[in-house]
Amino acid sequence: MTTTAVVNQKGGVGKTKLTINVGGALAEGGARVLLVDLDPSGYLTDALKVTPSDGFSLAEALTSSRRARVEPVRHSTTEKGGVLDVLPNTAAMLTVARELDRLRGREQRLARVLAPLDGDYDQVLIDCPPTLDVVTDNALAWARRALIPVQAEDTTLKALQLLLGQIAMVDEFLRAEPLVLHGMVVSLLRRPPSVYARSVLTDLERLADQAGLPILGTVPLSVVVTEAARHGRTVVDHAPTSYHATVYRALAKTLEDVP
Ligand SMILES: Nc1ncnc2c1ncn2[C@@H]1O[C@H](COP(=O)(O)OP(=O)(O)OP(=O)(O)O)[C@@H](O)[C@H]1O
Ligand SMILES: [Mg+2]
Repeated sequence: MTTTAVVNQKGGVGKTKLTINVGGALAEGGARVLLVDLDPSGYLTDALKVTPSDGFSLAEALTSSRRARVEPVRHSTTEKGGVLDVLPNTAAMLTVARELDRLRGREQRLARVLAPLDGDYDQVLIDCPPTLDVVTDNALAWARRALIPVQAEDTTLKALQLLLGQIAMVDEFLRAEPLVLHGMVVSLLRRPPSVYARSVLTDLERLADQAGLPILGTVPLSVVVTEAARHGRTVVDHAPTSYHATVYRALAKTLEDVP
């Protein structure tokens, strides 16, 4: 099972759309995919138009003193036998960070919730909230890899330094093996890129080399991404022949065949 945290505490950088559409591309290729909506805002749940099942919500399971089994919701299946499932968000997620702060083993709660699902999925992608709090720490402590969407803006460099600092802390105190820095995806890029964006990209490439964090690809701004979400679908499903479908398939490829 490949487990990936889609993470960046900077808001609005494309985490949720990347999670949905890379997940969709992995499922299209035949993988059994689970998307975990860890953001209290619940944008992933809304964009895929899934309704939480009866039983324990993710929020309840994270904070319960008992081992509570969560039931993912099926979004879709694909011709190659892939599935796209979601652990959806509920309103209770809004207070989870505060509740977790009072609990023992607070950063390992997600690991406990997801352990019973081991074996059910080939790929698990976690849509992290735009915060570096205990909820995000749960994803960083559990996932094997980090996939980091960034925008070509100056603030990106500082945000990345903060994130890499947090990952180093989690590596030191919460993990047996370091989190794999799978790579960055430059999101929401205007085409053609401005002179400013190109100069930030040059700085990003330098940081990528220094930090061992490759730039895996670029997702340009496009209405196809928002249109697909409007219909509750992934881009590869909604617009299979679009340029963006090929971009998401290529990004999905980087996650196939890695542990
Ligand atoms: N490639 C794209 N083309 C056009 N719009 C996009 C694209 N990617 C993301 N968006 C839009 O940009 C906004 C931010 O994207 P998204 O919600 O994926 O970012 P996020 O990092 O998850 O945000 P947050 O930090 O609030 O969770 C959303 O309105 C989304 O629909
Ligand atoms: Mg989001």
